[in-house]
Amino acid sequence: MALLEVKDLTKAFGGVTAIADLHFKVPENKVYSVIGPNGAGKTTLFNMLSGIYHPDEGSIRFLDQEIIGKEPHAVAEMGLSRTFQNLQMFFNMTVLDNVLVGCHLRTHSGLFSAAFRLPSVIREERVARQWAEEALAFCGLEEYSRQHADALPYGVLKRIEIARALAVQPKLLLMDEPAAGLNDTETLEMRSLIRRISESGITVLLVEHNMGLVMQVSDRILVLDYGSRLAEGTPEEIQNNPQVIEAYLGGEVQYAV
Ligand SMILES: Nc1ncnc2c1ncn2[C@@H]1O[C@H](COP(=O)(O)OP(=O)(O)OP(=O)(O)O)[C@@H](O)[C@H]1O
Ligand SMILES: [Mg+2]
Repeated sequence: MALLEVKDLTKAFGGVTAIADLHFKVPENKVYSVIGPNGAGKTTLFNMLSGIYHPDEGSIRFLDQEIIGKEPHAVAEMGLSRTFQNLQMFFNMTVLDNVLVGCHLRTHSGLFSAAFRLPSVIREERVARQWAEEALAFCGLEEYSRQHADALPYGVLKRIEIARALAVQPKLLLMDEPAAGLNDTETLEMRSLIRRISESGITVLLVEHNMGLVMQVSDRILVLDYGSRLAEGTPEEIQNNPQVIEAYLGGEVQYAV
């Protein structure tokens, strides 16, 4: 079954068509990657899937429901969670609090009950904290929980962002360039984290420029070129596709990861 189905999706900014008539299906429990050169429209696609941008045309069905027109928090509540290409971090807060920021998307208490700390609020806080701690442990970050984010290396910060996205217990996780800026060791850690996320039953939609990583973790790959679908298939099919090699890979796929 497709967890996410995109049809005829189009988005233009002024004269620039960032996504053109795009269609694809993300199967449940798989790692599905979207690749393409800088400016191909990958982040724009993620922004539409997560409710930040409104498409000009098309349909996005998640869990068999149309999600175009829903606010980002409503999409997140349905179980679609994401990380950002540019790190979104509160540097003056602890790691645990940075992750808890994500959990508050999923808690429902109104201002009144929160102000008076009704039992429902206390219960929600306890659940949020438990989910945040579980997500930190899952990402191998327990030891950093009480530290302030500003003192931590970039590779750790990237994993904190993932922990925040996981703490809401999503069904689908969108990751926008999780390995960008990471060294070789951190990239290997990221690879095993992506695999563990997938094995835990969460479907992963990955945007990434590191082709070694993409080829190793993906079940299927969609190649974008100027916002359009150039090819779609298994890593092997993509690596052997002459159009993809000419337009994007340039024969320089690396397997060194
Ligand atoms: N908010 C915006 N306003 C105007 N143009 C935009 C906006 N967001 C994206 N674009 C344009 O849309 C196109 C696609 O950009 P996008 O950021 O989606 O590419 P990308 O594939 O994520 O690139 P990269 O690999 O560099 O992250 C580019 O031409 C970009 O300049
Ligand atoms: Mg991008």
